[in-house]
Amino acid sequence: MDLFTAVETRRSVKHYDTTAQMSASEFYHLIQATMLSPTSYNIQHWRFLRVTDPTLRSELKGAAWGQQQVEDASELIILCADINAWRDRPERYWADAPKEAREVLVPMLTNFYAGKPQLQRDEAMRSCGLAAQTMMLAAKAQGYDTGAMVGFDPQNVAELINLPDGYLIGMMIVIGKASKTANGRGGQLSMDEVLFENRF
Ligand SMILES: Cc1cc2nc3c(=O)[nH]c(=O)nc-3n(C[C@H](O)[C@H](O)[C@H](O)COP(=O)(O)O)c2cc1C
Repeated sequence: MDLFTAVETRRSVKHYDTTAQMSASEFYHLIQATMLSPTSYNIQHWRFLRVTDPTLRSELKGAAWGQQQVEDASELIILCADINAWRDRPERYWADAPKEAREVLVPMLTNFYAGKPQLQRDEAMRSCGLAAQTMMLAAKAQGYDTGAMVGFDPQNVAELINLPDGYLIGMMIVIGKASKTANGRGGQLSMDEVLFENRF
């Protein structure tokens, strides 16, 4: 599928065919593609939690105020991020770069984030956003529908999935085959309301 077609036809789907399954090769291809998303200093904060246990799915649906797609979609990914990834063996992020570049970039990124907890968290969330959009567009290109979700109790979800200290939950993403198409678009802002030139 052409990228613009994927962008223009992706919609947030809430009703899924409970019999549809992603093949293992489709699933891992999707994760591999998602992992190519850009991140600041190549930190790759994302940690993808794939939920396959039906009991846990049902409990997570409860934490998401009964949103049925949490249980019905072929795949449920909880897109998390390690806020402290910037200081966790940062040489890994430049392992394949020339030594001279690595020796500059690793101390540079450490200095950039050290002592700035708000920036550390913002960056982790930014990385989640980029991964999420790659995942949803790539899934669309594979013939699947998706839905991003933040409609859940984060504390409850964190407990259910044993979220490690220092991790945040960016969002949930459901992936599957729509059993009912999305409603019409809610209402797009006009370009002159959102596009600016040079200064606000
Ligand atoms: C971060 C994020 C969280 C969302 N959370 C929910 C949710 O919990 N439940 C839901 O039904 N839709 C949720 N949505 C879907 C939005 O309502 C939807 O993206 C928006 O209305 C635009 O529609 P579209 O995605 O079909 O273009 C979420 C979307 C995003 C990006």
